[in-house]
Amino acid sequence: MHLDIQHIIYLLSSVTFILGLKMLSNAKTAKNGNSLAAVGMIAAMITAIVFHEGAVSPLVYGLIFVAIAVGTVVGWLTAKRVQMTKMPELVSLFNGMGGACAALIGLVEFHHYVGDSMSMSVILAGMVIGSVSFSGSMIAWAKLNGKIKNAIRFPKYNILNTIILIGLFVYAAWMVWTGTGSEMHLYVLFAAALGYGILFVLPIGGADMPVVISLLNSFTGLAAAFGGFLYGNQVMLTGGILVGSAGTLLTLVMCKAMNRPLFNVIFGAFGAGTTAASEAGPQGNVKEVGPSDLAVQLNYSKKVIIVPGYGLAVAQAQHVIKELETILEERGVEVSYAIHPVAGRMPGHMNVLLAESNVEYDKLKEMDDINPEFAQTDVVLVVGANDVVNPAAKTDPSSPIYGMPILDVENAKACIVNKRSMKPGYAGIENELFFRDKTQMLFGDAKKVLSELVAELKALD
Ligand code: TAP
Repeated sequence: MHLDIQHIIYLLSSVTFILGLKMLSNAKTAKNGNSLAAVGMIAAMITAIVFHEGAVSPLVYGLIFVAIAVGTVVGWLTAKRVQMTKMPELVSLFNGMGGACAALIGLVEFHHYVGDSMSMSVILAGMVIGSVSFSGSMIAWAKLNGKIKNAIRFPKYNILNTIILIGLFVYAAWMVWTGTGSEMHLYVLFAAALGYGILFVLPIGGADMPVVISLLNSFTGLAAAFGGFLYGNQVMLTGGILVGSAGTLLTLVMCKAMNRPLFNVIFGAFGAGTTAASEAGPQGNVKEVGPSDLAVQLNYSKKVIIVPGYGLAVAQAQHVIKELETILEERGVEVSYAIHPVAGRMPGHMNVLLAESNVEYDKLKEMDDINPEFAQTDVVLVVGANDVVNPAAKTDPSSPIYGMPILDVENAKACIVNKRSMKPGYAGIENELFFRDKTQMLFGDAKKVLSELVAELKALD
C-alpha cells in the first residue's frame, strides 16, 4: 500500500517537473512553472523520507531536517539577493552543489555494492561525472566572478585532458572488472575526476563560459539520474534525465546561436588571439549624438527598434526603456525589441529583464523574425549591446565570432548605439558598426542617458 502511494506521488512529481519545464518556455507562465516544479520536488523529498525502507534513528532524521533547513535558508537568501548580472555565477555554484551530492552518493554507497558489476558501474559513473561537474562548476564560478581572471592553458592541454579522460574511463572500468573494494582506488578515481573537472574548465574562456556551465549542468543531471537508478527512485531518475537532456539541448542551442561547434567550445580555446584582434580592429572617426538631438530624431520617426544587450542589464535600465517605449507610442511611433538568442549572459536574459518592467511579450521579436524589418526602420536604438550587432561576424573570417548570426541593424536608416565607451564587448573584439556612416554613438550609462532622453522627449510636448 505504502509503495503504491509512494509511486503515485513520484509519478505526479515527475509530471510537475515536465509541466514546469514546458511552462518555463513562456515568460507569462514561467513563474508558475517554477513554483509547480518546486511543489513537486518538495512532495518527492517528503515522500522519500516518509517511505524510507528500514529503520532510521531519530538522530539521522534530525540531521536530515537540519540539512534541509540550512539548505533552504541559504538557497532562498542567495537567490533573493543575487543581481541579475550575477545569475550565471549562481547557476554555476548551485550546479556544483548538485554534482557534489552525486559524487558523495558514490563515495558513501560504493562499499555496499562491491562485486556487483552493474551497481558498481552506476555508482562509479555517477561519482566521476558528479565530481567533474562539481570541480568544473567551481572553476567556472571563480572565472565568472573574476577570481580567476583569464583562461589558463597548459602546453598541449587538449592532449593532456584527453589522456586524463580516457584514463578515468579505463580506471573505473578496471575497478568494475576486478570487483575491487579498495578504498584507495575509490579515492584515487575521485581525486582524478576532480582534477579533470578543473583542467577541463581552466582553458575555456570568453563567450564560451555560459555554454560550459550549461554542459556541466547536463553532467549533474546525468549523475543524479545514476543515483536514481541505483536507489530505484523514479523521481530522482526522471529529474536527473530532465536536467541532463535540458542542459544538453540548451548547450546545443547556444552553440548554434553563436555558430560554435561544441567541439570548438571544449577544445577550441575561445579568446586566444583576442587581443590581437582588438588591436588590429577597425579604426576611424565616430559620430556622437546627445539626448536632445536624439529625442527630436525619435519624435519624428515612424518605426523604432530597440536592441537590448548586456549593458542594459548592467545599468538596470529596463524600467526607463519601458518609459521610453510608452512615450514614443503615445506619439504614434511603432516600437518593438529585437532579441538576439545570446544577448546578455544567459539564455532568455533580455526577455526576463524586459518582463520585469512589463514590456509586452509580443513586442519582443526573435532575430529571424525581426531581421527583415530593419530595412523599413527609421531608427535602431542599440542599448548596451555589442557582439550581437557586430558586422565582423558576417564579414571577417579571422574574427572569433565569424559565422555567428547577428541582428542586421545596419540595414536601418539610422543606427544609434548607447554604451559608455569604445571598449569591446564580451568577445573582446572591436566593432566596425560604431564607425559606419549611419551610426551615431550615444555615450553614457544606459539608465542615465535614457532618462535624459525621456526628459528631452517630454520637453518636446
Ligand atoms: P556584449 O557584447 O558583452 O556588450 C555589452 C556592451 O554593453 C559592452 O560593450 C559595454 O560597453 C556596454 N555596457 C556595459 N555596461 C553598460 C552600461 N551601464 N550602460 C551602457 N552600456 C553598457 O553584449 P551583447 O551584445 O549582449 O552580447 C552578449 C555576449 O555574450 C556575446 O558575445 C555572446 O556570445 C556572449 N554569450 C552570451 C550567452 C547567452 S546565453 N546570452 C551565452 C554565451 C555567451 P562599455 O563598457 O563601453 O559601456
